[in-house]
Amino acid sequence: MTFHPLEKMHQLYDGYCKSFSISGKKLLLIQNEGRTYLITNRCPHMDAPLDFATFDGEKLRCPVHGIEFDLPSGKAMGSLAGCINGLENHTITYEGNQLGILL
Ligand code: FES
Repeated sequence: MTFHPLEKMHQLYDGYCKSFSISGKKLLLIQNEGRTYLITNRCPHMDAPLDFATFDGEKLRCPVHGIEFDLPSGKAMGSLAGCINGLENHTITYEGNQLGILL
């Protein structure tokens, strides 16, 4: 596996949301309320990119149809919770002052 750096840790701030394409994977790095998440940049509902998602605490809201997802678990919330897959979370790896992903 190879470490792919995404961002320097001091560049993160609450509200940070940036997309990356690494080895064919589309990723979204997010920081909200001091927590950092790395997810596949694709809504499990209809595959829309999530670059313009909005956040409320640990919830991500897809900009297309408004389905909300719990960021820590990735699970869809509300009435569609059992009907669609969840967000795909990835493990963040740290190397020096960089965070990234091992692929
Ligand atoms: S594509 Fe995200 S809620 Fe429909």
